Amino acid sequence: MLKIRSLKNTDLVDCAEIILKAFKKAPYKEKWTKARVLRSLRHDSKGQIRLSLAALENKKLIGFAIVQLVPWDTADLYFVSTLAVKDSEQNKLIGTKLLVELEKRAKKRGIKSINLNANTKSKAFSFYQKNGFQATDWVNMVKKLGSRD
Ligand SMILES: CC(C)(COP(=O)(O)OP(=O)(O)OC[C@H]1O[C@@H](n2cnc3c(N)ncnc32)[C@H](O)[C@@H]1OP(=O)(O)O)[C@@H](O)C(=O)NCCC(=O)NCCS
Repeated sequence: MLKIRSLKNTDLVDCAEIILKAFKKAPYKEKWTKARVLRSLRHDSKGQIRLSLAALENKKLIGFAIVQLVPWDTADLYFVSTLAVKDSEQNKLIGTKLLVELEKRAKKRGIKSINLNANTKSKAFSFYQKNGFQATDWVNMVKKLGSRD
């Protein structure tokens, strides 16, 4: 039976394995190493790990949401920096259940919005729309810094 609970620091190694596989594929094509994923996960969850969620089946971690509390103009908001489900467990509503649980917990804390970034070319984009998320006018901007020679 699926269990959703707060994430623990000891789960981060399993989260790293899921990220390595999930974000290697298009459209992401990210080139994480295990060490760098772990560094990123520790950074994003530092001091707030209990806000993040783990989905477990038979005590094995199969999905997670990394969440930060962000003080904003009139209220605090939740920012989901990563949501991922193990490849073999996708399309079984686990991602949806993680979002439903997150929303339930957020409402209890008086949080007024859940924010995240999604790649418009990914399956996740329509998944988020189905789950009630709307694209805003804000876009992610990047300046790539090449070498000068
Ligand atoms: C995006 C992601 C988190 C979604 O999690 P998931 O558990 O696969 O999602 P769900 O099963 O709740 O829903 C996924 C889709 O399957 C469909 N689905 C799920 N169960 C279904 C069922 N029993 N029958 C028919 N359709 C079903 C949903 O309607 C949804 O459709 P969509 O792809 O058109 O949106 C997951 O695919 C993932 O980890 N992707 C790689 C990493 C990623 O992109 N993360 C988000 C960026 S941070």
